[in-house]
Amino acid sequence: MKKGKKVAIIGAGNVGATVAYALAMNGVCHEIVLRDRNTEIAKGKALDMSQAANAARQHTIVSVAEDASGLAGSDVVVITAGSPRLPGMSRDDLLMINAEITKEVVRDVKEHAPDSIIIMVSNPLDVMTYVALKESGFPKERVIGMAGILDSARMAHFIHEKLGYGAGQIRASVMGGHGDDMVPLPKFSTVAGVPLTDVLDEEEILEIVERTKHGGAEIVGYLKTGSAYYAPAKSTAIMVEAILKDTKQIHPCAVFLDGHYGHSDVVSGVPVALGANGVEKLFEMTLNEKQKRKFAASVDSVRGMINVLKEKNFFN
Ligand code: LAC
Repeated sequence: MKKGKKVAIIGAGNVGATVAYALAMNGVCHEIVLRDRNTEIAKGKALDMSQAANAARQHTIVSVAEDASGLAGSDVVVITAGSPRLPGMSRDDLLMINAEITKEVVRDVKEHAPDSIIIMVSNPLDVMTYVALKESGFPKERVIGMAGILDSARMAHFIHEKLGYGAGQIRASVMGGHGDDMVPLPKFSTVAGVPLTDVLDEEEILEIVERTKHGGAEIVGYLKTGSAYYAPAKSTAIMVEAILKDTKQIHPCAVFLDGHYGHSDVVSGVPVALGANGVEKLFEMTLNEKQKRKFAASVDSVRGMINVLKEKNFFN
């Protein structure tokens, strides 16, 4: 019997497990199931988190789905499964490996949780969101990639660090793909409504923009063998919460563009309202020529990767 809201998390590594922990700590769902190739480790983490939920006086129970039927009844399925880039592996090799993993996992979701909303977290994010959409056959409103919240949180942090004030009052805006050519939008960023361009000079803003674009790599540089997970997980949990509570909160997310901003048959990060139906509304902001060019370049690099998959007959 289904007791309430259920979230499945496929891939219980650092990001997946931290998403589960963030959700269990604020009690947004009744049930979380973890699914991972390494069942034993997933079981250990699930037990640990269920106990943490009790310590926090929350009702969430975390368990493990040993086979795909455990995904049944999920309202939201978060996919973090994927391979990291290993030595000697080209970008295209990694693309192909993770596309195959995503395909396999999404088939399970389609079979066992056909009414769920998929949140894609695996990299390369925008392409994997496209793969999940095509493979699931779900309506585009129900397949959403996480990246924009993370990238704008990184930008907000860098702004705060530079200013020394405005904590919690910074609204940073980033759109485009989750790659080196993402598009931070200083002109659309504010500190408590005060335009960023009025509190920082051009050079400072440029420094923040560059650091934001390479925000993930900066953390890999310290961690060496892994990448960031606290901010990626929190960003994912924010999306799950907006969907489960049907808040219609606006967040930048990676979604399918169907003529929006002049682009079609591709996924990129744009502001959307999230609610019980997934993407409830997609906002088309008025961009100036320079912003349009940068967004188009970012969309093109995602399209380039989708084309690599198409050339390899991945979607046939
Ligand atoms: C990041 C990588 C993992 O941005 O996408 O942290």
